[in-house]
Amino acid sequence: MGPGVLTGPFPRRDGVLHGGSHRLDALAEEFGTPLYVYDLDAVEGAYRRLLDAFAGVPLDVAYSVKANGALAVLHRLASLGAGADIVSEGELFRALRAGIPAHRIVFAGVAKSEAEMEAALRAGIRAFNVESAGELERLDGVAERLGVVAPFAVRVNPDVLSPTPHEYTRTGHASTKFGVGPDEALELYARARARPTLKAVGVDAHIGSQIREVEPFVQALARLETVVHGLRAQGEALEFLDMGGGFGVAYEPGVEPSDHGGTLDLRTLARELGPRVRALGLRLILEPGRSIVGEAGVMLTRVEIVKRSGDKVFVVVDGGMTELIRPSHYGGYHHIEPVVARPDPQGPVVVDVVGPICETGDFLARDRALALPRPGDLLAVRTAGAYGFTMASNYNARRRPAEAAVSGDRVELIRARESLDDLIRGERMPFDDLATPPS
Ligand code: LLP
Repeated sequence: MGPGVLTGPFPRRDGVLHGGSHRLDALAEEFGTPLYVYDLDAVEGAYRRLLDAFAGVPLDVAYSVKANGALAVLHRLASLGAGADIVSEGELFRALRAGIPAHRIVFAGVAKSEAEMEAALRAGIRAFNVESAGELERLDGVAERLGVVAPFAVRVNPDVLSPTPHEYTRTGHASTKFGVGPDEALELYARARARPTLKAVGVDAHIGSQIREVEPFVQALARLETVVHGLRAQGEALEFLDMGGGFGVAYEPGVEPSDHGGTLDLRTLARELGPRVRALGLRLILEPGRSIVGEAGVMLTRVEIVKRSGDKVFVVVDGGMTELIRPSHYGGYHHIEPVVARPDPQGPVVVDVVGPICETGDFLARDRALALPRPGDLLAVRTAGAYGFTMASNYNARRRPAEAAVSGDRVELIRARESLDDLIRGERMPFDDLATPPS
């Protein structure tokens, strides 16, 4: 079996999956299920591996908060010197609260509101990654009103078709809503030069997510180099080149890094990008999300019911699309295994692992060969540290799950399971006086 899933965090010892030195079944007992567990040492390990791979390249990591915005995760990354890639005022709030300094924060997104721009300008972030003429004008207006200078980069759409597993996670080709083409980018920089309230500090791109090949990044860099050279010719002084994130991880066990489906090889990426970025005389910003936190998280879920329907076997568990939407939204594969292994004389059975939510699209795995679990058994859904909790919802009035973190022999609940009161916070029942009483 290959690296990644099996040799990474949450190893099996004496037949039981562990997080740090803790048995995961004990954590489920203590905190209830469904439960997210993050291994903060694994988060740190992934962050350090990225730095190691890019040793010698002037690199600033702006961790992509959307992948996992838990304060405990952000705080560990802050302690390691990470910055943040944010897309909302909410993520700005989280990042600052967790101790990530504003000068290490870059702000992406196709339509930042005036209020969001104002909050980020007041905080003093490093740069706005601007995606349209309209947005640049809006930023100009807000900066002028506040009497400050707004540092910005234009997000260039390099028109690279990145081979991501699902079309929803491709952002680098011209027919997506993201960024502007290279020519329009140059026009935007030229327009900004006339404005004392706008300061160009970089060039930005992000081509997609869960990309396992180096080539699309190299192609994107070629387009960005053209833009940088064009800007230099116009006398523009830039500080950074932001190549975004999107570095793929292994979701299936036994997949070697070099195989399609494996983890993107960061060393090869660094070898290809590093010298060229250095030659431009710019700092490199990377915005990894999934590759920092993906493997560092599992979702624990308990089997409620095992039922047969037609020729199918359904393992109904207590977590579903409201906790982890990736399988149903992107057809995403997540490896699922029992937390406590037990002898399986019958051999694996092909099952659908489904949640309790009232939707046929509510599943965690379809047609998956598993040792048939029994009600009460605990299952671990792997590689759930990225885009798991952050995409959780309250559909079916479900309470979003608890999150716990381990680090060595320590364990802490880092977010309590939502309460019933959390579900109705802010709601009102007005207009009683208008109601017609029942006759
Ligand atoms: N930078 C920008 C501008 C982004 O839009 C994203 C992700 C990232 C960085 C981080 O990408 P990462 O390194 O995590 O791949 N919910 C989907 C993924 C959506 C990604 C959106 N943007 C999923 O679960 O696969």
